[in-house]
Amino acid sequence: MNLPKTLSIFFFLTLIISSQAQEADPLIQNVTARNITTLNGLWQIIVDPLENGYYNHRYQPKENGFFMNQKMQSPSDLIEYDFDEGYQLAVPGDWNTQMEKLYYYEGNLWYKKSFDYTRQAANRVFLYFGAVNYEVKVYLNGKKIGEHVGGYTSFNFEITDELREKDNFLVLKVDNTRRREAVPTVNTDWWNYGGITRSVHLVETPQSFIRDYFLQLKKGSKNEIAGWVQAEGAGGQNVTVSIPSLKINREFRTDQNGRAEVNIKGKFELWSPMNPKLYEVKISTGTDGITDQIGFRSIEADGHKILLNGEPVFLKGVSVHEEAPFGPGRATSKAECETLVKWAKELGCNFIRLAHYPHSEEMVKAAERHGVMVWSEIPVYWTVLFDNPATYANAENQLEEMITRDKNRSNIILWSVANETPVSDARLDFLSRLAKKVKTLDNTRLTTAALDTHSSEDGYNIIDDPLGEHIDVIGINQYCGWYWGKPSECASLKWKINFNKPLIISEFGGGALQGHHGAPNERWTEEYQDDVYKYNLEMLKKIDFLAGTTPWILTDFLSPRRNLNRIQKDYNRKGLVSENGVKKKAFFTLRDFYQQLDGPGKR
Ligand code: GCU
Repeated sequence: MNLPKTLSIFFFLTLIISSQAQEADPLIQNVTARNITTLNGLWQIIVDPLENGYYNHRYQPKENGFFMNQKMQSPSDLIEYDFDEGYQLAVPGDWNTQMEKLYYYEGNLWYKKSFDYTRQAANRVFLYFGAVNYEVKVYLNGKKIGEHVGGYTSFNFEITDELREKDNFLVLKVDNTRRREAVPTVNTDWWNYGGITRSVHLVETPQSFIRDYFLQLKKGSKNEIAGWVQAEGAGGQNVTVSIPSLKINREFRTDQNGRAEVNIKGKFELWSPMNPKLYEVKISTGTDGITDQIGFRSIEADGHKILLNGEPVFLKGVSVHEEAPFGPGRATSKAECETLVKWAKELGCNFIRLAHYPHSEEMVKAAERHGVMVWSEIPVYWTVLFDNPATYANAENQLEEMITRDKNRSNIILWSVANETPVSDARLDFLSRLAKKVKTLDNTRLTTAALDTHSSEDGYNIIDDPLGEHIDVIGINQYCGWYWGKPSECASLKWKINFNKPLIISEFGGGALQGHHGAPNERWTEEYQDDVYKYNLEMLKKIDFLAGTTPWILTDFLSPRRNLNRIQKDYNRKGLVSENGVKKKAFFTLRDFYQQLDGPGKR
């Protein structure tokens, strides 16, 4: 079909404008404390690998795609889809483990949810998503609301004007196809769980409401909160911040942008693993109020030490994927998060590394309640395209969304910008920019990354990754006894570090099929894995500049890279706990190691 030149230019421009990702609204802080109506539950779906519900046969976006949720009006109508006679999926939840035919599915899948909603007059309504992996187009009542890219961070859109009382239909076009330019890129060592993997809520707010706030101790202080409150609507509003149990009740004023700087001195019981104290904090304006449970603590790096509330602390940790404890599939419920945190506590942990992407708000809050510090990470993993500006923008957006959601969670002490990325100039530029970006968003926490490079000299492994100059705490992944060397050779490994900064051994470990026993030199037995732990822990004891460790990993988890069927059956078996919740021998070896450490700061 040859269109006149002007018309084709018009179509091209229309395509560009309509394809502009309608960005999500700034995230609403602490939505679960608000007036929410959940849309969790069963949603109708259509599996659409060729995006037939979106493109016509000329690969042009359809005006009447599946997002219109059309129904036959007369017996002769031709409508070749119907959400209400198809399959259903539970939300939240990945699609891979809900339907056998979707186990390996990577591609495009439509979700539809119908609902009625009565809005209180003059209020506003937002649509909130905990996470959707990996990219999503959102439609309400046939109208495009917006798009989001990134599989592990929360986002929301205002839908006040599009919402009606009866028969709303919310349609999502979700695509979890891995892409070379994405974050993460095409190769990872975890299952590419697709779908609406976390909660969906309608959030109702007053016309002018408290959109966001940041209330943590001022960097380096133990008795002064320094933060801000961001109110929607006109400037010059009075904002009250109160902490009733401390009889603190202070008033601040918003500037013309609706932002009020907050400074509150007080004598705070500081949050710590031994005393995970959370204060009820109330924030209010003339038209809105919200309550949060916030802990106050200080975290600093001092040479090779990490100081929690001014005292050296040794981070007795373990790495954790967002894998359901009695999987397979994404951990989605509060109970599942509590189980994972409970297992970490049974190990004697005061710290967890939430790998390799931001976990759910539930998981972070469960850890906070139980006195477990957190390393939170964006999925800049292995070989992302470090020289691609769009990839950087995507990574930076995910970093900002991670920090925006969790910046009031006192147990988060480290923001990680990467895992095991190959050294290059482009990678150094990419990651050092991300590390700087963290400080503009939150200068109260420490930056880190898990590195896997080191040189060796005179029998020493030397930590000299150039990224070390740009982050506060160095993470090193090393697999002595598994990917190289024999377990018995690990105890004598020696390390040097070229930075006067804290070091965390952010991964070590080995695989074992739970219940498979044999001689310690038999790969995949619990005895072999236990030896890997025993000898590596001996090595750790000799690293006098070590500030902590997060062995890989708490539980077995699904990964398409794990193809030894008699042992793995798609599972990465480096877990200390099996997919059935059974602890392996090495679990107790690590637990005993942590128990012998006589409290925080001493080794
Ligand atoms: C790497 C990587 C992990 C991976 C692990 C393994 O270090 O960081 O994501 O699962 O090793 O090989 O099991």
